[in-house]
Amino acid sequence: MADLSWLKLKEAVGRCRKCPLWETRNNVVFGEGPEDSSVLLVGEAPGAEEDSSGRPFVGRSGRFLTDLMAEAGLKREDLFISNVVHCRPPGNRNPKKGEIKACLHWLEDIVGLLRPQVVVTVGNVPSQAIMDTKEGISTLRGRFHRGSLGGMDLAVRPIFHPAYLLRNRSREEGRPVASTLEDLRALVDFVRTTS
Ligand code: URA
Repeated sequence: MADLSWLKLKEAVGRCRKCPLWETRNNVVFGEGPEDSSVLLVGEAPGAEEDSSGRPFVGRSGRFLTDLMAEAGLKREDLFISNVVHCRPPGNRNPKKGEIKACLHWLEDIVGLLRPQVVVTVGNVPSQAIMDTKEGISTLRGRFHRGSLGGMDLAVRPIFHPAYLLRNRSREEGRPVASTLEDLRALVDFVRTTS
């Protein structure tokens, strides 16, 4: 978008009808957080509570992720939080390829305005979309990657999706919750050492 501002972008996303998800949405979930945050956290798509509130990651899994972030020393309110797809897929199914394709340019515009130092991709969908890979999250997590959005080269740290963590709650070393805490702590160190 030429001559882009946060306000214009938010309004444009709010009016979007580029895929059929607009027909069933209650609210577009644009994203929220400081407009100068160095960390962009990108989820899959809004669920029921996000669709009714218009805010990202406020449902059960969002609250679990917020708690894990706090445990790792990250404040939710310091991050800009958004999704690959901004409208809820019916029944919380995964977003389809065409929906991701239709929506991804909004995330590119967010990246263009935010210019984050690092992007945290939550689960398979954003990790694969941003890194253009078919590798799964278990293989991708645990290290930083390079990715690209809107022509901007980015550091990317993939983490497990909190819905998966809620089904696998063991805190033992090597299990998904402990691995996610490691990823989030690595992110804190990365931000500290590169800013
Ligand atoms: N809430 C979101 O906003 N995105 C997800 O991926 C999951 C829950």
